[in-house]
Amino acid sequence: AAKTKDEDKLYKRDGVLYSTILSPPETMDKLKDLEVRDDDVVLVAYPKCGFNWVVAVLRKIMNASTGKNEAPPERPPLVEFLPPDVQQTLSEMPSRRLLGTHLHPDNMPASFFSRKPKILVIFRNPKDTLVSYFHFMNKNPVLPSAEPWDKFYSDFMSGEVPWGSYFDHALAWEKLIDDPKVMIVMYEELKQNLPEEVKKISEFFGFPLTEEQVNSIAEQSTFRAMLETSNKSHGNLGSVFFRKGEVGDWKNLFSEDQSKQMDEVFHSKMAGTKLGAQMNT
Ligand code: A3P
Repeated sequence: AAKTKDEDKLYKRDGVLYSTILSPPETMDKLKDLEVRDDDVVLVAYPKCGFNWVVAVLRKIMNASTGKNEAPPERPPLVEFLPPDVQQTLSEMPSRRLLGTHLHPDNMPASFFSRKPKILVIFRNPKDTLVSYFHFMNKNPVLPSAEPWDKFYSDFMSGEVPWGSYFDHALAWEKLIDDPKVMIVMYEELKQNLPEEVKKISEFFGFPLTEEQVNSIAEQSTFRAMLETSNKSHGNLGSVFFRKGEVGDWKNLFSEDQSKQMDEVFHSKMAGTKLGAQMNT
C-alpha cells in the first residue's frame, strides 16, 4: 500500500470513488453475485459513522446469545473488501452471518433487497463524519492524504470521496426508514445511551439478552475499552480507527463559513425528512 502513489489509490466506478487496493474492479464485479440470506445480520454505514464500533457490539451480542459469531475474515468485515475467492467461501459459512458494507444501497448486491434480511444502518452527524474522515484518510496508508482541509471539505460536500456522497446515502436510507426490516441508529444515540441501544439492536435482530448481558456488552464497548483492545482487533491501525470518539469534534476544524454552508446544504437536502429530524449538524 505504501508503494502505491496517492493518485493511484482511488478509482471511479459508476461515478463513485473506491479504494484500488481494497475494492478493485474484480472484487466489485464478483460482488454482484453475492447471495444474501434472509437471516443474515447486516450492518450498513457510510464511512466514519461508527461501523467498527457497531461491528464489535454485534459480535458481542451474537456471542452472548448464541456462543458464536460468523463474519468474513476481513477486518473490518466489509463485503466490498473480500477478494473473489473469499466471497466464494461465504456460501459455506453457517448462519447467522454478520455482513457489513459502506456501499450506497443502489450499489449493494441486489440480494440484500430481494432476500430481505434485517439491516441496521448507522448514521452520524455529517460534520463529525467529515472530520473523522479527514483524519482517517491522512493516517490510513491505503487511502490518499486528504490535505489540505479546505480541499477535503469541498470534496466531501460534492461526494468526491471514497464511497461517494454522505447526502446521497442519507437520502437513499430515508426512503427505507419505515421498512420494518430496516433500523437506523445514530452515532450520537449510541454515545448517549449505549445500554439502551445495545438492547434495541439485539431485539431487532432477535438475539435475546439478559439485562446483565446488555450492561456488560455496553461496558466493553465504550471508546476507552475499545481503544485499549484496538491493537488486538485492528493491529497497528488501532489508534487510527479509534481516534477520539467524541461528538462535536468538528468545531476544531470547521470555519464559521463551512459550518454555515454545511447547515444550508443539510437543510436543503434533509429538511422535512424523518432521518433529517434524527440528525443534528
Ligand atoms: P473519530 O475519528 O471522530 O474518533 P468507522 O468505524 O465507521 O470508521 O468510524 C470511526 C469513528 O467511530 C471514529 O471517530 C472512532 O473513534 C469512532 N468510534 C469507534 N469506536 C467508538 C466507541 N466505542 N465509542 C465512540 N466512538 C467510537
